[in-house]
Amino acid sequence: AVVSMPVRRLAGWHVIVTSGPTHEPIDPVRYIANRSSGAQGTAIAAALRDLGARVSFVTGPADIPPPEGVEIIAVETARQMREAVEALLPADAAVMAAAVADWHVSNASDSKIKKDGSGKFPKLQFAENPDILAWISQLQAGRPGLVVGFAAETDNVLENASAKRLRKGCDWIVANDVTPATGIMGGSENAVTLISDEGAESWPRLSKTEVARRLADRIADALTGMEG
Ligand code: CTP
Ligand code: CA
Repeated sequence: AVVSMPVRRLAGWHVIVTSGPTHEPIDPVRYIANRSSGAQGTAIAAALRDLGARVSFVTGPADIPPPEGVEIIAVETARQMREAVEALLPADAAVMAAAVADWHVSNASDSKIKKDGSGKFPKLQFAENPDILAWISQLQAGRPGLVVGFAAETDNVLENASAKRLRKGCDWIVANDVTPATGIMGGSENAVTLISDEGAESWPRLSKTEVARRLADRIADALTGMEG
């Protein structure tokens, strides 16, 4: 009988994947966050695993369970996510699929803020979170050889995403249009454009699983020197 063996092209390679949202506490019962189901990041981690990679999966509080067969590091805040990623280095590649909150509440309360009926509202103050993608892309020592970011945009998608790639210093950006009418946020499909220094390549609308497989294949091409 003919037995088809999976092609473990990424055996021996270490890839870090961030996924899901981060939650930034206001007090012990409230937080601010970005919208993210964690579906695309989870599918990417599973696809890399299926190619044989050692996958470290750093996830914020997502709606869906993490993939099996990967190392899972569960975090809550952006600051914790950055620390977790740093502790996982060195890595051959990093894929930053998390929807990281841009700010945290700098005057978060250790005790529950009470609604006291006085007509006064809590005054939240914000501070910027570390930009994990920019930080890892610009590491002087120990930068992963391939750094992939995401750009979820609603306007001027390709322009904004290309500018983001250059500003942050990552190698590739996976751009997608998350205008509510596309139904992509929270859905099972994605329509992405892969942007590198060689230009922009738009993929058809595919399941998030298929987007993940194609991206994992591209990552394997790049790491194993089969690009182009
Ligand atoms: N990212 C990150 N850390 C942050 C913010 C973003 O690692 N603090 C990563 C995301 O995981 C994603 C990429 O950066 O891969 C782009 O995120 P995005 O929110 O689109 O970019 P920002 O620079 O935060 O710009 P914007 O003002 O559009 O939110
Ligand atoms: Ca952002």
